[in-house]
Amino acid sequence: MRFLDVNETICRTLGYTRDELRGRTFMDVTHPDDVELDLDLAGQLFGGEIPRYRLEKRYVTKAGAVVWIDLVSTIIRDEHGEPAYGLGIIEDVTERRRVRDELEQAHEARRDMLKRVVEVAESERRRLAADLHDGPIQRLSALTVRLETARAAAAREDWPACTRALAATQESLQGEVNRLRRLMKDLRPPVLDERGLTVALRGLAQEVRTTSGLRVSVSAPSGNLADLEPERETALYRIAQEALTNVIKHARAREASITVSMDGRTMRIEIADDGRGFDPERIVVADGHFGLVTMRERAEMAGGTLSIETRNGRGTCVRVLVPLSARVERVA
Ligand SMILES: Nc1ncnc2c1ncn2[C@@H]1O[C@H](COP(=O)(O)OP(=O)(O)OP(=O)(O)O)[C@@H](O)[C@H]1O
Ligand SMILES: [Mg+2]
Repeated sequence: MRFLDVNETICRTLGYTRDELRGRTFMDVTHPDDVELDLDLAGQLFGGEIPRYRLEKRYVTKAGAVVWIDLVSTIIRDEHGEPAYGLGIIEDVTERRRVRDELEQAHEARRDMLKRVVEVAESERRRLAADLHDGPIQRLSALTVRLETARAAAAREDWPACTRALAATQESLQGEVNRLRRLMKDLRPPVLDERGLTVALRGLAQEVRTTSGLRVSVSAPSGNLADLEPERETALYRIAQEALTNVIKHARAREASITVSMDGRTMRIEIADDGRGFDPERIVVADGHFGLVTMRERAEMAGGTLSIETRNGRGTCVRVLVPLSARVERVA
């Protein structure tokens, strides 16, 4: 099926002269992957099975580039109703497709991001459930046994034993209330709401110092850092918190530091220790190590990146960079 005639537009689109195209068939300029489908439809058209067809397909230009076109093919018949020639009308839709592809990619990236947000939230809920199960629930169950002891002593009218059991129960209950308060504070550090990230990080360092004895210094520009959305503040705080928890749990460090700095429109937070370091290649998430991946995911959700510098025996530095102009995905 040779081209009988072609107009200027298709010549321009494909980069051939009119004469060059006239000698060719449409298969010659069709992308190899689209030839079969187009041939099949053209066969049906000329066979009278369909009156016309429309197809988005690729042509290959004389220079070898791929262009997407929207083709409508129909048939022109002579006075006896016999097919005289086919008529194809094309529109170059390369740009339209490019925009569509870009939109699809953007949608996909957003879907991935939301999926990750949900996964992080899910794994946190699992951890919280495990914490509640192993901690408060176990200890409160143990308390009911103590109360039983007190009741039995009361039934015997052994008041000293009853009082002892009640006092022990009261003390344990008070401890439990305190631990639950701490757990609640972990869920959303109140100081973040009130006084911002720097103050919250200083508070975190203080807490680590008193609970673990580790020396932690904080260096941050004084005054208000920059307007960070609450979600991002929480993300950065959580990263620092997990990084410090790792220092306490794994590093055997003498000291640690939190350094906050601004470099143009980029905010940088580093949590470093002088401990034993580790080999990140050898950490397997499936073995129940969620801290590092969660830190990385939080950094990405905040529109930033996270890198870890560490070597056996050489300490560890967790670095988060967050561009302040980055868009944040707000998730309800
Ligand atoms: N600052 C550090 N110094 C030395 N080793 C570290 C440090 N941070 C992490 N690691 C090593 O990396 C591993 C993975 O850390 P990650 O935070 O992902 O998991 P985890 O702390 O073991 O468990 P969790 O899921 O409770 O955080 C740790 O088990 C430890 O071996
Ligand atoms: Mg950890």
